[in-house]
Amino acid sequence: MIYLDNGATSLRKPPQVRYAVADAMTRCANPGRGGYGAAMAAAQTVYRCREAAAQLFDCDAEQVAFTSNCTHSLNIAIRTLVRPGAKVVVSGFEHNAVTRPLHALDAHLLVAGRKLFDWADTLESFEAALKTGVQAAIFTHVSNVFGYILPVERMAAMCRERGIPFIIDAAQSAGTLRVSLRSLGADFIAMPGHKGLLGPQGTGVLLCGRQPEPLLMGGTGSDSLNQKMPDFLPDRVEAGTVNVPGIAGLHAGLRYLNSVGTDRIHRNECIQARQCAEGLKKLGMRVFSGAHQAGTVSFIPGGDCEEAASVLARQGIAVRAGIHCAPLAHESAGTLETGTVRFSFGFDASPEQARRLLRAASKLPPFES
Ligand code: ALA
Repeated sequence: MIYLDNGATSLRKPPQVRYAVADAMTRCANPGRGGYGAAMAAAQTVYRCREAAAQLFDCDAEQVAFTSNCTHSLNIAIRTLVRPGAKVVVSGFEHNAVTRPLHALDAHLLVAGRKLFDWADTLESFEAALKTGVQAAIFTHVSNVFGYILPVERMAAMCRERGIPFIIDAAQSAGTLRVSLRSLGADFIAMPGHKGLLGPQGTGVLLCGRQPEPLLMGGTGSDSLNQKMPDFLPDRVEAGTVNVPGIAGLHAGLRYLNSVGTDRIHRNECIQARQCAEGLKKLGMRVFSGAHQAGTVSFIPGGDCEEAASVLARQGIAVRAGIHCAPLAHESAGTLETGTVRFSFGFDASPEQARRLLRAASKLPPFES
């Protein structure tokens, strides 16, 4: 199978990830719950992963909280910053992991920047929205549907200048683009462990630039006489036993990234994605490509997108079609009615994958305008 659904999860991982999971399952007891060898081994495994994440994301190890996925991280961050009914600015390319928790809070959303690959539009609209007195800003680093890389450094600077707290959704950028908690100065940065960070599913990270409000209350192995959650990080948001085998695998993924370098992975993904975008245009597809694009591309062939993905699947190509849990992004791009077919390259992106995608896509009908 040619796996081009890394936007959903990185199915292919360096082999050391699964070795680390298996090793932790045999060696690790409960971290922070005992002084015997196996409990200490678990605590050390978890701490080493925190340190590796802190190195990659330029923060202190205590600012790295482990969660079960990016959605979990976003829910903690949003519940911390957004009061019910508050006015919040989001980009035009947010995922349901951002918009649904905001909807549940009855937040009043200002959607800033609807034009794909257009930094001027994104920045102008964002600045205008910030001036209207919003309580918080939440924006994705990279659109999960279109691979659009938003100008997050400048958006972060605008928020900092106005003292507006903000959250960055790094679901599609962690592991490929530079994400520095220190220089962005974000209140929170949320990310999954199982996509670009190459860890197992069931892992997520919340980088905390401020004290979060816990979503879950329970045992932490610390401050046990206190009936309130500890007021220190990361324990405050890590109630219950963390996913030690998952975190061990995530550590192996992070070590791999720290050794290979995320820039190299990003460059390679982009080269293959561009190659495919050009090839698909020649095949007559409607392709969403432009400046500031990562290794994820959406296109529309003739006929139904889901059917097109099935045609590709029958030829051994794994892509994701439909709305990608991001109706807001599709609404911005004008593709809410049709959806798109999305391919997303991963750390193993290769010219052979690009060739195979194009060969399979040549069997699809071209887009009719
Ligand atoms: N959010 C993931 C995706 O874009 C699952 O496919």
